[in-house]
Amino acid sequence: MAVILGIESSCDDTSASICIDGKILSNIIANQLVHQNYGGVVPELASRVHQQNIVPAVQEAISKAKIHKNDIDAVAFTRGPGLLGSLLVGTSFAKAFALANKLPLIEVNHMQAHILAHFIDAKPAFPFLCLTVSGGHTQIVLVKDYFDMEIIGQTTDDAAGEAFDKTAKILGLPYPGGPLIDKFAKEGNPNAFKFPEPQIPAFDFSFSGLKTSILYFVRDQVKADPDFIGNNMNDICASVQNRIVTILLNKLKKAAAEYKINRVAIAGGVSANSGLRDGLNNTAAELGWEVFIPQFQYCTDNAGMIAIAGYYKYLKKDFVGQDVTPQARMRF
Ligand code: KG4
Ligand code: ZN
Repeated sequence: MAVILGIESSCDDTSASICIDGKILSNIIANQLVHQNYGGVVPELASRVHQQNIVPAVQEAISKAKIHKNDIDAVAFTRGPGLLGSLLVGTSFAKAFALANKLPLIEVNHMQAHILAHFIDAKPAFPFLCLTVSGGHTQIVLVKDYFDMEIIGQTTDDAAGEAFDKTAKILGLPYPGGPLIDKFAKEGNPNAFKFPEPQIPAFDFSFSGLKTSILYFVRDQVKADPDFIGNNMNDICASVQNRIVTILLNKLKKAAAEYKINRVAIAGGVSANSGLRDGLNNTAAELGWEVFIPQFQYCTDNAGMIAIAGYYKYLKKDFVGQDVTPQARMRF
């Protein structure tokens, strides 16, 4: 039996999870509300709140899993990519916990973990394509094995999550705006307003032009009608969401055709978006894809995905030493 403690602290969620033989028994996530009024994560504040939350989150994960601290066989933690000050808190905690309890230490790449979250329940066969869409990344990944992954397309500027969050900021909504845009979009007309689809080669993405076109559109409309945003919130959100989703799905279709792969997954915070989930299911029905959509609790940042990634590394005895340091930028 392998009992893994997973620790995630790469951005603004402090999370701890217990995984036994690939099954997640607890996944505690402490969100940070301090960033709401800043339009984005304030790194300095994030590190401090991680310091406050990390010990209670781990204690809760252990007690919810109904195990004892001494039952743990290894500690897996997010080494990167992420905010350095945030990563330092989780990394230091994991190192200290491993040292004090004489346990092996397992480093996990956050972006790989988003993808490996699919092995918590569905377990797709290899190879498959994964669209990983978060607040910091937008990637199409060819997943050949648990730790053999190739990025075949990525954003050249903003991430998809940033497109949602920056749109929310333009509309005067708090951070993170993605879930709010999703909520308003449910009541709106996705074809009310038209935003451009960028023409980017191969499987890469660009979202900064879209953000600028939304900014100018809203600015011009508000000049003519100061109540434009309030009166059209649902339609604006539905139209923006529709465009972001079609950009993502069109590239995914292109990649699936080129690589002749019809097993397709989505991962990362934006995979919680209902427009993307519905769009993927519709595309699957149309093209005969087998699709994998994570449970909501494993879409946004969580330690369950770190624990499951740690479990597969534990099986290979892929451990790191106490000299390991976090990495703000980390490839796989
Ligand atoms: O994976 P994640 O929790 O953190 C990063 O690694 O970045 O992703 C956070 C991002 C944010 O940009 C947030 O607005 C977006 O995921 N997000 C959503 C939804 N839920 C979270 N975007 C659109 N619709 C949602 N329902
Ligand atoms: Zn993430």
